[in-house]
Amino acid sequence: MRVDIISLLPKLLESPFDHSILKRAQKNGLAEIHVHDLREYAQGKHKQLDDYSFGGGAGMVMMIEPIANCIESLSKDRNYDEIIYMTPDGEKFNQGMANRLSLKENLLILCGHYKGIDERIREMFITLEISIGDYVLSGGELTSAVIVDAIIRLIPGVLSDESSALTDSFQDDQLSPPVYTRPAKFRDSEVPPILLSGDQKKIDEWREEKAQERTRDRRPDLLKD
Ligand code: ADE
Repeated sequence: MRVDIISLLPKLLESPFDHSILKRAQKNGLAEIHVHDLREYAQGKHKQLDDYSFGGGAGMVMMIEPIANCIESLSKDRNYDEIIYMTPDGEKFNQGMANRLSLKENLLILCGHYKGIDERIREMFITLEISIGDYVLSGGELTSAVIVDAIIRLIPGVLSDESSALTDSFQDDQLSPPVYTRPAKFRDSEVPPILLSGDQKKIDEWREEKAQERTRDRRPDLLKD
């Protein structure tokens, strides 16, 4: 998979993709992530990227030309499966969306700023609008890092133990069971004995039961009936 990200603050995206699983995915050729500086597509001496909102009101609006230039220039080299705009009024991101997007070849993500982007960009170019939750961040960089992480870890071969993506919370509409590691006893607190029993069938049953219990207690909205 290749992901292109258009950003006003490309430096903000230098670190999130340069560690751990995402770094390894790129090194192993399973994912390519390219960040594009929107300012390089702006015109004039001042390379202006934002302007006042027609009709007045507080907050600047990202201008249409630099974004259109950037999207059109990148689209010459490849067909994007989705052109995504990160925005608080987009569709709420979830594991199902991450699964679907992990099957795509080419994604283009536009990070917003200020009061938003000129509406005509959304009408002309954007195929999917994503929100990571009902709160507002200063820009789309951190939110795009969130979805790229969730998507890339699902690409086959990215996780060393592939089954671990399948047992993540939300993957089957339920939360993950509790996990433990050494030492088996810490102060007065002991690991549930079943996990030390070596009886894999019983352990799997216990995990399923705990996952259901946790989902009922914390996220009953995930349960279908
Ligand atoms: N940009 C600012 N806030 C956002 C949010 N909640 N989701 C996606 N992009 C955003």
